[in-house]
Amino acid sequence: MKRSLTGIRATGEVHLGNYLGTIREALNLQQEYECFYFIADLHSLTTNKDPEALRNQSYDVVATWLALGLDTGKHILYRQSDIPLVTEFSWYLSCVTGMGFLQKAHSYKDATAKGQEVNHGVFAYPLLMAADILMYEPDLVPVGKDQKQHVEMARDMAGSINATYGEGLLKLPEVHINETVMTIPGLDGRKMSKSYNNVIPLFCTEKQLRKKIMSITTDSTPLEEPKVLKGTLLADLFVHFATQDQYKDLESRLSTGGLGWGHAKQELFEVINEDLKDARERYFELRKDTAALDALLKTGRDKALEVGQPVLDRVREAIGFKKLPVSFS
Ligand code: TRP
Repeated sequence: MKRSLTGIRATGEVHLGNYLGTIREALNLQQEYECFYFIADLHSLTTNKDPEALRNQSYDVVATWLALGLDTGKHILYRQSDIPLVTEFSWYLSCVTGMGFLQKAHSYKDATAKGQEVNHGVFAYPLLMAADILMYEPDLVPVGKDQKQHVEMARDMAGSINATYGEGLLKLPEVHINETVMTIPGLDGRKMSKSYNNVIPLFCTEKQLRKKIMSITTDSTPLEEPKVLKGTLLADLFVHFATQDQYKDLESRLSTGGLGWGHAKQELFEVINEDLKDARERYFELRKDTAALDALLKTGRDKALEVGQPVLDRVREAIGFKKLPVSFS
């Protein structure tokens, strides 16, 4: 079975945009691939300096992905920081990677363009990401469009290692971008993003979910007048959760007049709630039991190491390091 690998960067509350944009698609790959999912908490350190938040966010991610159907019997979920070997590997990649090459990374260029104080972690981000990937020899790396360049850089770095130390030493993976999922709009119509403060949380109480959905921006066409669903923010969200029939039905009832936007929003709430309700219940159950989550993470780490350790051993040997015997007599 071919292997797929993807890193999840935990950045606070998981929202509908994350779910529709990446999580759902990444989980669908479980049918066809052996999937490695990991929480990229070493990467989070470039921006997150709050230890408590860092710890909690890992649990949030684990519980979220499990609740949405990650099958840890067949696939692997682990935390990046549980396998510090990856930072060693990124050093080996550093030594075959030019400064000029790293300066071209969008993530670095964007950060400098915003006038941010850029730490070395931001600059070295693509190296660690390449190590994340190359250490586990995936065939496929599913990511969002914004991460495509990083995966291409990982391929280039693998090429440099192979050119220096021997062809075939590292495997070059393919990048997989899901083109069908568009940008998910937030409550105000802009891209759903924590930084715009317009997100609909994935797992909140039913009451909070309804309240959020009711706050979606609509125009002020009076109740009795005909309305066009297509092109509205409501439609852009509805289309991801409703069946085609449900969509057409709402569209036609709005077009005849007599149905207000408030009613339409209520229907949107209902389809979203229906989709999430079981997972939400599972999420809150799972999230409570951090000891059980730790046990899962430990299993994930052990399984990931079984794959990653031999790759790193091979690289060490190829670059000229010698393994010492365990004991001397
Ligand atoms: N950089 C990715 C993001 O911000 C997360 C990530 C880290 C990742 N390492 C990875 C994704 C390796 C795919 C493969 O979303």
